Amino acid sequence: MTKKRKPESEMMSYGYDPHLSEGAAKTPLFQTSTFVFKNSEEGKAHFHIAYGLRKKRKNESVSLAYSRINNPNAEIVEERLKIWDNAEACAVFQSGMAAITTTILEISKPNTLIMHSSPLYGGTDHFIKRVLPKYGIKSMYFDSFDTIDKIVNKKNIKYPNLKVSLVYIESPANPTNSLVDIKKSKEIANYFSNKKSKTYLAIDNTFMGPVFSQPIDFGADLVLYSATKYIGGHSDLVAGSVCGNKLLINRIKTMRVFLGNMANPFTCWLMLRSLETLKLRMEKSAENANKIAIVLNNHKKIKKVHYLNLIPKKSNEYKIYKSQYSCGGGMISFDIKGGEKEAFKFLDNLKLVKLAVSLGGTESLACHPYSMTHADVNKETKKLFGFTEALVRLSIGLEDSDDLIDDIKNALKKV
Ligand SMILES: Cc1ncc(COP(=O)(O)O)c(C=O)c1O
Repeated sequence: MTKKRKPESEMMSYGYDPHLSEGAAKTPLFQTSTFVFKNSEEGKAHFHIAYGLRKKRKNESVSLAYSRINNPNAEIVEERLKIWDNAEACAVFQSGMAAITTTILEISKPNTLIMHSSPLYGGTDHFIKRVLPKYGIKSMYFDSFDTIDKIVNKKNIKYPNLKVSLVYIESPANPTNSLVDIKKSKEIANYFSNKKSKTYLAIDNTFMGPVFSQPIDFGADLVLYSATKYIGGHSDLVAGSVCGNKLLINRIKTMRVFLGNMANPFTCWLMLRSLETLKLRMEKSAENANKIAIVLNNHKKIKKVHYLNLIPKKSNEYKIYKSQYSCGGGMISFDIKGGEKEAFKFLDNLKLVKLAVSLGGTESLACHPYSMTHADVNKETKKLFGFTEALVRLSIGLEDSDDLIDDIKNALKKV
């Protein structure tokens, strides 16, 4: 029996046969909106299966029809992405938000409740709290470090009659790096599941996945990514993905067809290029981040560093860190002594690190979540989850670590 290969070994060739494409070693770009059917019967079969008018026959292969539905570049990148997460299937999207919103819309119904961790990425927070209520979908926060009884009681007091359609978590959370217990979240989803309708657990794994954490192994049903970040990895594309079992991913793909937010062929082709170096990039960024976090932690102008390798060893969060993640990752947040003025002074004096939102690219980036990515999150939520105007978020890239440390120290001198 051949040994199962590591994901990084599969990223150069899995799901692609050069002999079907003139021997091209690299997957060609299938830059086409439509596909030519061999005959009318084939065209008819495609649409009858796609619309569920009949089932696919055994061994019947369904032809491609239109790039909003499917495309060879999308198919291959989905095949490769699912390997990292030990998932049965994957769907790619035009953006991380497209993956998140399409998944939530497919899973939730009017008059149901989403239970979510906090903080969440600003866009997700806005969608759950401001957009979904228009469609009768409510939401409430839960703390995965509370007991199940406490969480269930809170829900039953606040929303006694609402069925929980989805437990939605983000871990590590943007921007504070706080962790959520995936196994506990799954227990909550199981508690609210019944024979008639299942409550699913979805997790945004953008910060540490897919290399440093595999949430499906801890019970997650759906794993979501802003593929704009580490998966794309070069700050030159916007994309998203979701992994899970075949049944759920097929449902989400059907919703994708009608919302029309499939990733385009070129974006998928760029992702294929990026996946070949994913592990190398993530490891180098984590190695750099670890060194930088130590320097920041000892700096007199820094109040607190939020980095996974610095979580106090005796805390509950540390247990979750050690069980769910294989290293500290490439994302660091820290509270500078002072407030917005000091944070801005630091950001405006960086030379090598660029002042920009987004993360997970080859270059290091810094931003001010309070006034930028999370500007729309209400002040109470920000206060409750400890992110203030003094918080700076760093996405550490692949530059030389000493050069990055010099740049950060020099900017701090100006504060
Ligand atoms: C954790 C997280 N999830 C989702 C998103 C949204 O992804 P996109 O910008 O690709 O739509 C982001 C964007 O910053 C993010 O940081």
